[in-house]
Amino acid sequence: MSYKVAVLGATGMVGQEMLRVLEAQAFPVATLVPLASGSGETGRTVHFRGRPHAVLGTDGFDYRDVDLVLASAGEEISAREAPRAAAASAIVVDNTAHFRMHADVPLVIPEINGHAVRDHHGIIANPNCSTAIVLMAVAPLRALGGLARLVVSTYQSASGAGKEAVKELDSQMAAHLEGRTPEHRVFHAPLAGNVLPRIGRLLPDGRTSEEAKMEEEARKILAQPELAVTCTCVRVPVIVGHSASVNLTFDRAVAPGDVAAVLREAPGVHVVAEPDGPTPRDAAGSDDVLVGRIRADRSHPYGLDLWVSGDNLRKGAALNAVQIADILHREGRIGVSTRSA
Ligand SMILES: NC(=O)c1ccc[n+]([C@@H]2O[C@H](COP(=O)([O-])OP(=O)(O)OC[C@H]3O[C@@H](n4cnc5c(N)ncnc54)[C@H](OP(=O)(O)O)[C@@H]3O)[C@@H](O)[C@H]2O)c1
Repeated sequence: MSYKVAVLGATGMVGQEMLRVLEAQAFPVATLVPLASGSGETGRTVHFRGRPHAVLGTDGFDYRDVDLVLASAGEEISAREAPRAAAASAIVVDNTAHFRMHADVPLVIPEINGHAVRDHHGIIANPNCSTAIVLMAVAPLRALGGLARLVVSTYQSASGAGKEAVKELDSQMAAHLEGRTPEHRVFHAPLAGNVLPRIGRLLPDGRTSEEAKMEEEARKILAQPELAVTCTCVRVPVIVGHSASVNLTFDRAVAPGDVAAVLREAPGVHVVAEPDGPTPRDAAGSDDVLVGRIRADRSHPYGLDLWVSGDNLRKGAALNAVQIADILHREGRIGVSTRSA
């Protein structure tokens, strides 16, 4: 069985990675339809399996014979296009925040709650990039004890904000090295030579929308609606690779050696033995989430600290989405007759 697959946002950071991951995982794509902004008459192409494919616009696009849509064109576009595609019997795996907290939309990290894909009604959500990377390291540890509290500080790369953000950081770094004041448009302040302690919009309670995503998505994916989670999200001048400092409180004492042993067995996780810990540069291009600096939190008898780095475009977005699609494929759930009610 192979499928007609639409990649919505195919020219973007996530969309381009999606094409590479579909190729690398040999996902059974019979026909690829790349979608992006504009009318589709611009002559733009993307490359897939060594061949150029014309990029189409979404206006008036007919999803009727599309089996699967992998969407990463932004929230507004998903809000408009995903229901249209689902109504035409395609299954949508959506990378934007729009549907993640909808009660009837599964929010899935295959290694953690892959079973949830079966509950879909046409749309399945991919978590936020930093949520996916952090939970890959956190979820397996519940084998050692109940998780009572999660405190996260993220160090998020520019590519998490899209292709224009990467271009802006590139030109800011050049300006910074030449002693000029870096100009900014995508970011709210210069990122080169700096860190920005706000990602997303400020909420009335003082958190940011990015921090709220970590808190809410973690509770939904771990199926722990009462879990205490707090987070500070920070943008750093890195091109690809999100990292996080994670402090966990369990309901009992947990030995760092046992944590490392559990994580060594966890699929999609690689424990880095070097005492310096992994960097985002190590994680960029890797399918695995890298974990290191595992140590006891000496301020709390049941506390633990660790550091995690992951590729925000791969496990944080495209790889996770293709893994979801792969579950659907292996379970024979793609195609009009097999879609859940
Ligand atoms: N970057 C990450 O690490 C990451 C991780 C997880 C989730 N996400 C989410 O994924 C989405 C895309 O992120 P990104 O980083 O790939 O952004 P990006 O690099 O800015 O790419 C955006 C894509 O959406 C397309 N697009 C824009 N307006 C459109 C429209 N009106 N109709 C159809 N397509 C349109 C763009 O096409 P054009 O080339 O025509 O402009 C481009 O292909 C966002 O919602 C983001 O929050 C991103």
